[in-house]
Amino acid sequence: MITKATIQHNFSRHATRYDGYCRIQEWAATELLRDPSLGSFSRILDVGCGTGNLTQRLRERYPSAHIEAIDLCPNMVALARRKSLGLDIDFQVGDAEIGDLGGPYDLIASNAAFQWFRDLEQTIKHCLSHLEARGVLLFSMFGPATYRELATTLTAVLGEEVTVSAAAFADGERVAACLQARVGHLQVRQETVTHSYPSLMALLKTIKYSGTQGQGLSGRALNRQEIQALECHYHERYGAIVATYQILYCLARRGPA
Ligand SMILES: C[S@@+](CC[C@H](N)C(=O)[O-])C[C@H]1O[C@@H](n2cnc3c(N)ncnc32)[C@H](O)[C@@H]1O
Repeated sequence: MITKATIQHNFSRHATRYDGYCRIQEWAATELLRDPSLGSFSRILDVGCGTGNLTQRLRERYPSAHIEAIDLCPNMVALARRKSLGLDIDFQVGDAEIGDLGGPYDLIASNAAFQWFRDLEQTIKHCLSHLEARGVLLFSMFGPATYRELATTLTAVLGEEVTVSAAAFADGERVAACLQARVGHLQVRQETVTHSYPSLMALLKTIKYSGTQGQGLSGRALNRQEIQALECHYHERYGAIVATYQILYCLARRGPA
C-alpha cells in the first residue's frame, strides 16, 4: 500500500519538474473535457489539482463559474496559484479523502489523481456527498495496465519481487462497482495510449518527475548493469522502450437516470 506521506513526498520533491513531464496527464485532461454535451456548470471543484492544469482548462471552458481546487501537496498548490494569478480560482491544500470539501458543487472534476486514493470507494462516496442533487462527478485515472511493459521486463530480469506501483491501481470494473448503485447515470470508458522513449532512463525520469512512481521499483535502486540488462530485454521483447498508459474516464451524474 502506498502511503499518503510517499505520495506527498513524490509530488513535493519534483513539483517544479511536473509540468515538463506531464504530457500524458495533459492528454487525459483534454480527453476528459472533450465531450461537447457535458453541460454547463456554475460551481466546480477540482480534486487533486496539482499544478492547476485541469483547473485552468475548467476556467477557460466555464468562464463565469465559481471554481475551487484542492491538492494534498503544498508545493503543487503553490505552483498552481502562481500559474493561475488573476483567474479567480480558490486553491487550497488538503486531503480530498477526508474532511469537508465545501460545496455543494454541480461539478467535481479530477484528472490523473483518483488512482492515488487509499480508499477509492469511500472517496467516491465522499465526493458524491458534496454534489448537488443532479451534480456530476467527472474524472480520469490511471488503470493497472499502466507501465505493463516495464512491469513485465522487471519481473523477467530482476524477479517477481520487483514491480511497479501502477499494478495495484483499480480497474474499470472496480470503478464502475464503486459508483453503479449510487448514481443515476454512469459512463466508464478506457483508453490505452502508448509512448516511446529514447532510453529506459528517459522513461524512468518521466515516471519520477510526473509523480507516478508510487513506491518506486519496490523501494529498490537500479545499478548500471541492471539498467543495461533491462534495456536489452525491452528491445528484444518490444523493439523499443515503450510504455502503455491505461486511462479510465468516468462520468457519473447523481439523481434519477
Ligand atoms: C498526477 S497529479 C495530477 C495533477 C493535475 N490534476 C493534472 O491534471 O496535472 C496527481 C495529484 O493528486 C494529488 N493527490 C494525491 N492524493 C491526494 C489526496 N488524497 N487529496 C488531494 N490531492 C491528492 C497529488 O498531490 C498530485 O498533485
